[in-house]
Amino acid sequence: MKVAVIVGSVRKESFNRKLAEYVKNRYADRFEIEILDLSVLPLYNQDIENDMPPEIVEFKNKVKEADSVLWVTPEYNSTIPGVLGNAIDWLSRVDKVMIGKPSWIMGASMGNLGTVKAQMHLRDILFAAGLQSPVLIGNDVYIGAVHTKMDAEGNLTDEATIAYLDIVVANFEKWVEKFL
Ligand code: FNR
Repeated sequence: MKVAVIVGSVRKESFNRKLAEYVKNRYADRFEIEILDLSVLPLYNQDIENDMPPEIVEFKNKVKEADSVLWVTPEYNSTIPGVLGNAIDWLSRVDKVMIGKPSWIMGASMGNLGTVKAQMHLRDILFAAGLQSPVLIGNDVYIGAVHTKMDAEGNLTDEATIAYLDIVVANFEKWVEKFL
C-alpha cells in the first residue's frame, strides 16, 4: 500500500519530519511510504490554479497515486502551520485528489499537548470542511514533550510511545483496507 506523507514543517531539524522518517523506516515492510516536500510548493493563487506550476502538478500526482495520506503536523499558534494550509488549498481545488482518499494524522511538539488543537482543526478541514477525506478516528497520535522522547537521529526512544504507535499502525492497516 502506498502512503504519501505530508509534513507541516519544512525546517531541517523538524521533529515532525523526523517522526515521519521514523514511521517510514519502522513500517517499511508494510507500506511504501514517500515523504513529500512542501518547501518547493508555490503559494496558492487562484489566478494560476487552472495552469498549475509544475511543482504543484507533481505534488498532486503523488497524492493521487497514493492509497492514503499520512499528515504529520506541528502546531503553530494553536492551529496548523501555513505551509500545511497552503498544500491543503492546492489539494482542495480543480482536480480534488483527496475526495474519498483515507487520511490519518500524527503530530509532535515540545509542549505537553502534542499538537492536539492543530489536529482538531486538521481533522475538521480534511473531512467536513474541504477535502472530503475520511479520517481515522480514535487512534490519535499526540507526541508531547517530543524532545525527551526522540534521539538526535530521530529515533523514538520512549517505549510507551513506540508501543502505542505500533497499535495505531495496526488499527490503521485494518481500517484502510475498506478503501482499497
Ligand atoms: C510554535 N510552537 C507551538 N507549539 C505548540 O504546542 N502550540 C502552539 O500553538 C505553538 N505555536 C507556535 C508558533 C510558531 C510560529 C512556532 C515557530 C512554533 C512550537 C512548535 O511546537 C515547535 O517549534 C515544534 O518544534 C515545531 O515543529 P517541528 O518544526 O519541530 O516539526
